[in-house]
Amino acid sequence: MFNFSKLGVPIIQAPMAGGTNNPLLASEVSNAGGVGSFGFSYSTPQKISEDLAATRALTNGPINANFFVFSPVDLPSQAIQTQAIEALKNLPVEGDYSVSTPQAPFYSAIEDQLNPIWAHRPEILTFHFGVPPLSLIEKAHSLGIAVGITATSLKEGKAVEKAGVDFIVAQGIEAGGHRGIFDPDGEDEKLSAMELTKQLVKECSIPVVTAGALMNGADIANALKAGAVAAQLGTAFLCCDESTASLAHKEFLLKRHSRGSVFTTGFSGRPARGIDNEFIQLMDGKVVLPFPIQNTMTASLRQLAVRTNNGEYQSLWAGQDYSRTRKLNAKSLMLALKEELFIALD
Ligand SMILES: Cc1cc2nc3c(=O)[nH]c(=O)nc-3n(C[C@H](O)[C@H](O)[C@H](O)COP(=O)(O)O)c2cc1C
Repeated sequence: MFNFSKLGVPIIQAPMAGGTNNPLLASEVSNAGGVGSFGFSYSTPQKISEDLAATRALTNGPINANFFVFSPVDLPSQAIQTQAIEALKNLPVEGDYSVSTPQAPFYSAIEDQLNPIWAHRPEILTFHFGVPPLSLIEKAHSLGIAVGITATSLKEGKAVEKAGVDFIVAQGIEAGGHRGIFDPDGEDEKLSAMELTKQLVKECSIPVVTAGALMNGADIANALKAGAVAAQLGTAFLCCDESTASLAHKEFLLKRHSRGSVFTTGFSGRPARGIDNEFIQLMDGKVVLPFPIQNTMTASLRQLAVRTNNGEYQSLWAGQDYSRTRKLNAKSLMLALKEELFIALD
């Protein structure tokens, strides 16, 4: 359905929920021969509509809209809630923030979130954290929209293939942001992007896109040599001029290399990889409510941290190799990646 070999550059700028994606970034990537994406999981249908319309006005190239597949979740007991609130309430951060447990529903129904997709018809629709209802995949296909789903293991890849979608996003353990594992409480094989890509290419019959610590054209060449049809890069785009990642996020990516990146459930309730900071350290071993309840509970704190440019209390999602992030505009980054890829494949 979507022909990756027709792309000028086999690169998907990763969907990144939480304010990083925007029409300018997505359209610049798309106009440069790649796929521009949006992580729409926390966006209202109106915002999704506006972003897609604004992007379409800037490019005729491919756009990818991405959503989380939320699992049904219940509030844990009052005692657990109290412990989770206490863990967040007394952090040594300057400024006021509130912490309270949200009321159900804890997330928007995916059917409502997808309404703007049916109206605007981006070329690609992708899902993270699991397989959505098959009726939604069928609806996308009936409108000519290609569908992809993240997998972190061969077992998940097989489930993705069985769902009848067009491609698998093979997310390695190095990847920044939320780990796309279907069951965050299940066993995690922690495969590298390359190991996983090779397994999926060998065992599955649909195309595979590699994601995880791909920072230059040589990395992308390795993914293609492993059998991938394209590479999905998140962190590499975070410091682009067009990226709306926060100032502190960009500063930590470019300068705080000794921190390294680690997994935490403290911000959202699900494991996600980000630059190590005070919040992650202080939340280690603390009681955390399930995703996305914990995410809502930390929203006020995270917003305060963005307002005050305090990188210690923001979720600074980043892949394992974030020290190689470049500060360029999206067009120049795409050009550099294309040239490096060309040389590496020669
Ligand atoms: C800031 C940030 C936000 C992310 N948000 C999403 C998301 O909303 N949906 C998704 O499928 N993947 C998301 N990811 C994961 C990416 O799709 C991809 O797996 C990852 O960026 C690849 O690793 P890299 O960051 O080292 O390139 C996010 C990654 C980052 C860095």
